Amino acid sequence: MRVIRCKDYKDASRKTANIISAQVILKPDSVLGLATGSTPIGTYQQLIEWYEKGDIDFSQTRTVNLDEYVGLAPDHDQSYAYFMNKNLFDHINIDKANTHLPDGTNRNAKEQCAAYDELIRELGGVDLQLLGIGHNGHIGFNEPSDEFVKGTHCVDLTENTIDANARFFEHRDEVPRQAYTMGILDILQAERVVMIITGESKAQILHDAFCGPVTPKIPASIMQLHPDFTLVADEAALSLAEGL
Ligand code: PGA
Repeated sequence: MRVIRCKDYKDASRKTANIISAQVILKPDSVLGLATGSTPIGTYQQLIEWYEKGDIDFSQTRTVNLDEYVGLAPDHDQSYAYFMNKNLFDHINIDKANTHLPDGTNRNAKEQCAAYDELIRELGGVDLQLLGIGHNGHIGFNEPSDEFVKGTHCVDLTENTIDANARFFEHRDEVPRQAYTMGILDILQAERVVMIITGESKAQILHDAFCGPVTPKIPASIMQLHPDFTLVADEAALSLAEGL
């Protein structure tokens, strides 16, 4: 794995955006694997800025996102489809028909998960996968577990996640209880993977995921085995990771 040390969040966001930008310049019809969460927002803002300056053209770019809540339509303001439109797609010249997320409105989990894996195959696989990491080491909604799950699958959200999300909904019974997520093999099969980790609060999990053994108890640790994995992290997040 390659480690890119950055000064702070802004620096890490710019460097990650640079990597994505180079990918799109070199291969305009790249399939980008994208992520939600607060961490990639700075990267997306930087990409928007460079697009506005005329430096990047997304007209041929395709995207697949890691995950989506079951039961939420793309126009629901808590859906990840809405997040991606608001934070990136609405501001660049990407063809929305080329942007993909699992379909949260399809309650047939088996069918939807198989369809998403088939879609990734039809697109020719992911050229560059962007990842964040949860404080517990999750990637997408692949939570700590006794085994790695290979393909797209449906996960039950923890009570903690459901409680945390409840504030965004009028009624508690509207809060999603499940999500669809790409699996670990889907992520490992990406040609290149870039993970962005910033802030002191992520220092412990960065250490545990990349200075220790590969284990499904820390799903992100599997990325140690990826042949083209780049970790973009700031000094605060790297503060416990001696030797990386
Ligand atoms: P965060 O989420 O960027 O909001 O910390 C990351 C994740 O859970 O993957």
